[in-house]
Amino acid sequence: MLKRGHKHTLCESDTSSEDEDSSSSSARRPNKQSRLSIDLKSKDLSDNEDGGGGWDVINAKEQTDETGGVANTNTNYSVFAQRMMKNMGYEEGKGLGKYGQGLVDPVEASRQRGRRGLGLRLEGLEASTNLNWDGKQESIFDQLDGRELQRARSRSNPFETLGKLFFQNRAALKMANMDCVFDFMFTRPKNEAGETLIGPEDLLYFADVCAAPGGFSEYVLWRRKTDSGGFCDAKGFGFTLRENDFKLHDFFAAPAEFFEPHYGINGQEGDGDVFKPSNITNFVKFVRTTTKGKGVHFMMADGGFSVEGQENIQEILSKQLYLCQCIVALGIVRTDGHFVCKLFDVFTTFSVGLVYLMYRCFKYVCLHKPNTSRPANSERYIICKWKRDDVDNVYRYLFEMNERLIGLSSSMDVTELVPLEHLRAEKEFFDYICTSNDEIYVTSP
Ligand SMILES: C[S@@+](CC[C@H](N)C(=O)[O-])C[C@H]1O[C@@H](n2cnc3c(N)ncnc32)[C@H](O)[C@@H]1O
Repeated sequence: MLKRGHKHTLCESDTSSEDEDSSSSSARRPNKQSRLSIDLKSKDLSDNEDGGGGWDVINAKEQTDETGGVANTNTNYSVFAQRMMKNMGYEEGKGLGKYGQGLVDPVEASRQRGRRGLGLRLEGLEASTNLNWDGKQESIFDQLDGRELQRARSRSNPFETLGKLFFQNRAALKMANMDCVFDFMFTRPKNEAGETLIGPEDLLYFADVCAAPGGFSEYVLWRRKTDSGGFCDAKGFGFTLRENDFKLHDFFAAPAEFFEPHYGINGQEGDGDVFKPSNITNFVKFVRTTTKGKGVHFMMADGGFSVEGQENIQEILSKQLYLCQCIVALGIVRTDGHFVCKLFDVFTTFSVGLVYLMYRCFKYVCLHKPNTSRPANSERYIICKWKRDDVDNVYRYLFEMNERLIGLSSSMDVTELVPLEHLRAEKEFFDYICTSNDEIYVTSP
């Protein structure tokens, strides 16, 4: 985890080092290339000298072999290979073998996929000889039957085979996964000294924002119930778009009675839209009052909406969602409490600035993509540990930024929350973001 003033792996990313990096790599590149071509040449020469084999020279056009003949110009075989075949009696167009009975045409690569029936061809899924990319080809996945797509997903990520276990959805498993990876910091919260944050007569208070149908909360309630031998000593506050509501009757693994949805202004009758400032204020007030002014031990946020066809700008389309979920967290997480929130890409100055402000408001912050998250998507989670107690100014600042975003005409935008120069100057933080972006993409299978 990234802690202020804490050492971690570095990636050079400020302007000067970028220059240094690119100049050093461009200085290395010709060297590497030339070494490669020198190697090939010298190996080739030595092959010709001692007559030994090894390197296939692709498209050996009009090369003279040692017997003085001109090698066939229409073949991809090396001069050496052709000579050897000739010595073994091969005549072009005839099969090998004593009676020329061998196959004339090369053996075709098998086109059977997995357990699909022999010869079954799915239009659009076969390797294409047309290398011109046509954006419409993305729809080939629409033709796959569900089971085939599921198998492909499981092959690319074995954790997919876990399915949803006894929870209502896979999301519950993602939360279980993260809770475990971070040493149960959410469901068994402790302070910096390692003491439990939950008093003996206390409940574990948590909030689940942008959260329907509620798999995350189902996991938390199940965990608390299991840990305490059957009695669920937790209380959850849910906030989500009412039009896509919680499915409390689908809480299979844990009792839904310990979970209370709230939809902002007008409480139960509100619309649950986290973008609306009045919804935020109402929910914050409700949670603070119910927890006797202390706030929740942790908040989870998993907001997302369909960006079909615009996946490449999902980060930009989701910026207000990133922002509003962070605002709510600063409003309701108690001192020393935690926050986990789904993000997608973190490339823009806006998102990086937001992550930076979280880094200032919590003692530890990191970006994490759990194994249970599909490798092909850009989702990752920001994990924030131990909230500081003096974050009201950041809360008010972000709240105002949201109001500005709402008030702007469609041609205007808020593009940064913290100036880029300031982010660059925070070298340890900035390097962490670069490394994280590199690692989440490079190491995802
Ligand atoms: C991926 S789902 C959350 C899944 C959830 N964590 C679970 O475990 O079941 C994303 C949720 O974000 C909600 N959402 C999207 N935009 C929202 C908004 N503006 N305000 C409130 N909720 C929103 C969606 O309605 C949806 O319920």
